[in-house]
Amino acid sequence: MKKILAFSGSNSSTSINQQLINYTAKLVSNGTVEVEDIRNYPLPIFSLDLEKEGFPSNLEAFKNKIQAADAFIISSPEHNGSTPAVFKNLIDWLSRIEKKVFADKPVLLMSTSPGGRGGSSNLQLLEKQLPYQGANIVSSFSLGGFHDKMKDGVLDEEEQQKLLQAIQLFEEKL
Ligand SMILES: Cc1cc2nc3c(=O)[nH]c(=O)nc-3n(C[C@H](O)[C@H](O)[C@H](O)COP(=O)(O)O)c2cc1C
Repeated sequence: MKKILAFSGSNSSTSINQQLINYTAKLVSNGTVEVEDIRNYPLPIFSLDLEKEGFPSNLEAFKNKIQAADAFIISSPEHNGSTPAVFKNLIDWLSRIEKKVFADKPVLLMSTSPGGRGGSSNLQLLEKQLPYQGANIVSSFSLGGFHDKMKDGVLDEEEQQKLLQAIQLFEEKL
């Protein structure tokens, strides 16, 4: 069984991206999914000065989680048309400890937002950025209007089909 690590790029305790991660994890049939929360790995804002003092233990721990996995499901919020600071900070730290930390392994990349565009501007940015970290993005899914489309833990049928398709593409690459 392939080991899949799933996490969101949000540090909100009520994160809708983390909710989408939890929902998606249950739909994966080909592999075991471990859902993580980056709030368990708080990091200071990256600086060259701090880096000289050594890598934070939370960074080492999260990097080890990534390296132990065979594939990834990542869902990121969008902040001001871009990547939330907490997630960009994590990427920056990871890039210093291991340049291609995702090691060309398959990634299902997702995003969701309460608004209609579903964080798709940032999804496009991450589709360009994460391959620099070795992410092999094999499939993506963006869910706009989260609160309208996900009601009482049930996803709208049309979106469900799109998500299942994205998962299938991902699973084919495992
Ligand atoms: C500082 C800030 C900027 C935001 N900018 C955007 C944006 O550019 N596009 C968007 O769709 N939503 C934006 N939002 C709304 C987020 O989509 C919303 O807060 C969402 O719940 C974030 O995902 P999360 O719950 O997983 O953290 C922004 C929210 C914050 C706090």
